[in-house]
Amino acid sequence: VSCPSLDQLHNDALSALAAAADAAALDQWRTTFLGGKGRVKAALGATKDVPAADRPAYGKRVNEISRDLEERHKAAAERLGGANAAGGGGGGKGPLVDVTEPPLFVETGLGPGRRHILTRVREELVEVFARMGFSVAQGPELEDDEHNFVKLNIPADHPARDPIDNFYIDDPARSPRPRMLRSQTSTVQVRVMEQAVADGGGKLTTPIKVVAPGRVYRPDTVDATHSFMFHQIEGLYIDRGVGMADLKTTLVQFARAYFGDAEVRLRPSFFPFTEPSAEFDLRIRLRDDQPLRWMELGGCGMVHPSVLRGSGIDPQEWTGFAFGFGIERLAMGKYGIPDIRMLFENDLRFLRQL
Ligand code: DAH
Repeated sequence: VSCPSLDQLHNDALSALAAAADAAALDQWRTTFLGGKGRVKAALGATKDVPAADRPAYGKRVNEISRDLEERHKAAAERLGGANAAGGGGGGKGPLVDVTEPPLFVETGLGPGRRHILTRVREELVEVFARMGFSVAQGPELEDDEHNFVKLNIPADHPARDPIDNFYIDDPARSPRPRMLRSQTSTVQVRVMEQAVADGGGKLTTPIKVVAPGRVYRPDTVDATHSFMFHQIEGLYIDRGVGMADLKTTLVQFARAYFGDAEVRLRPSFFPFTEPSAEFDLRIRLRDDQPLRWMELGGCGMVHPSVLRGSGIDPQEWTGFAFGFGIERLAMGKYGIPDIRMLFENDLRFLRQL
């Protein structure tokens, strides 16, 4: 038998108890709920108004609630008394918060929360790269075209800079340095290199090895595989004598660590900020019940000398590789999610399955 009025009573009592901050408030709470004229007694008295067939279940539930509240009262009294007696710190005054107490999920049916699947995948990726010595870098989502394009060697007439394909905040035709929502995490490469050069007093003095996960924005029409906002993870490694073999090794190690069974394929390609450039595919078994298959993941290459120079790094002394790929694609493949929109709708029926 479900009894909304008893559930209500129970919930009221628990939230009032959570709010009771000192011994006086706890006494007051006891009187209200467990006292001779309290709400639990009243509920018991109301048994006679319940249809005869439901009375046993009703009575049982009242008793359960009563017992539960007595126990919680006892625990709360010990907690408050103990804190009061201890004297130090807050001296028993002001709200006491027991951070170790499990949260109350009574009758809400929600249960403890969990991290969003994209957050989890991002953390997994960061962890894998961290084991290979990459630290995490971040850059602003509201960028300028200097970092999103110019310093990445993307010329003014490049189609990627078309206002139709970007979320400009300032009019690119009028502003000398228009701001925009970044369209790629490659911007963070530039930010990290500039910072490292600044830290070195005008020149690079130590290698750079970072990954930069984050949101990017493109005014794409939303459908099952496109969103105006999505996530990428960027990698950048600059050192003395870094070559293409290091890039491929890193990608292979990443793929094995994350997927267990994986092959990596580099296909010649073009990006303005790398030379040579490649697209990289992984041959992976996304889920146990699926065969190995090739999946296009992202772009990579050796950082273009002009990009290094533009950030104050001497390409004679330092070389480096970079890569970048989309996090949603990977998450969708790995978890069999058919539509990117599901990741952003926040429908609990979907999120709880992951
Ligand atoms: N930024 C590119 C994109 O959004 C992906 C990319 C390609 C990143 C090559 C890189 C790279 O670091 O080297 O399509």
